[in-house]
Amino acid sequence: MRIIITDDYAELSQRAAEFVAQALCAKPNLVLGLATGSTPVGLYDELVRLENDGELDFSQVVTFNLDEYLGIPEDHPQSYHHFMEEHLFGRLRERPRATHIPPAQPDDPLAAAEAYEQQIRAAGGIDLQVLGIGRNGHIGFNEPGSSLASRTRPVVLRAETIRDNARFFDSPADVPRYALTMGIGTILEARRILLLASGPNKAEAVARAIEGPVTAACPASALQLHPDVIFLLDAAAAAELQQADYYRHVEQLTRELQQRHARSHGAGQSVNVVPFAGRSS
Ligand code: F6R
Repeated sequence: MRIIITDDYAELSQRAAEFVAQALCAKPNLVLGLATGSTPVGLYDELVRLENDGELDFSQVVTFNLDEYLGIPEDHPQSYHHFMEEHLFGRLRERPRATHIPPAQPDDPLAAAEAYEQQIRAAGGIDLQVLGIGRNGHIGFNEPGSSLASRTRPVVLRAETIRDNARFFDSPADVPRYALTMGIGTILEARRILLLASGPNKAEAVARAIEGPVTAACPASALQLHPDVIFLLDAAAAAELQQADYYRHVEQLTRELQQRHARSHGAGQSVNVVPFAGRSS
């Protein structure tokens, strides 16, 4: 695991955009997994800026979003379809080659879930999956208690998630109770995972995900099983990590070694090793 602790949300968003940009430059037809919510908004702003300035090209990219509410129209202002248009797709000069978001009103949610899995497989799997984390440790809409091997499926949202998301709706009663989400097993198949967490209300979930046991009680802890996961945190979200100083030290050393490697092998080469912490670049 690579754990990067940034000073604040602005730096977190900047670093997240660098990871996406690096992946996109290395593979123009990147298969990119995307999240919604407050956390990736700064990342999307930065990606839009880079694309509008001509520094990034999404025209060959294929995207897959993690999840969507079930039961609201896709043009509802709080649907994740709407969110993606508003924050990313609709602001690009040229849209990605294909965008996928689970349907919000499928006739048969089970068939829609299986079709989504099939679409991911047909695209060759996800190269880089961006994640946020819920205060209860959820990733996607995999709530505590989700099987760590779960696949894309309809799920029932927990009361705390409905409360957390009520801020986006006129009233808590308007928040959908169900969603269609990639499973934890689906997420773990992404070749690289970039989890973003910002703010003090994420600190406990982040600490449980990184330093707690691997358990369905904290779905994000399943990421400990992934060989190439990056936790990109701001200082407030990292505040409850017991080993924060150690992670900072490892990250400083990692960057020094990467710079030394880039100097001796040319800037285009990246190292695929994080000393002491797992595999990453
Ligand atoms: C959204 C998603 C969720 C959010 C999480 C954090 O697509 O999958 O897991 O990432 O609920 O949401 P924010 O960023 O709003 O705190």
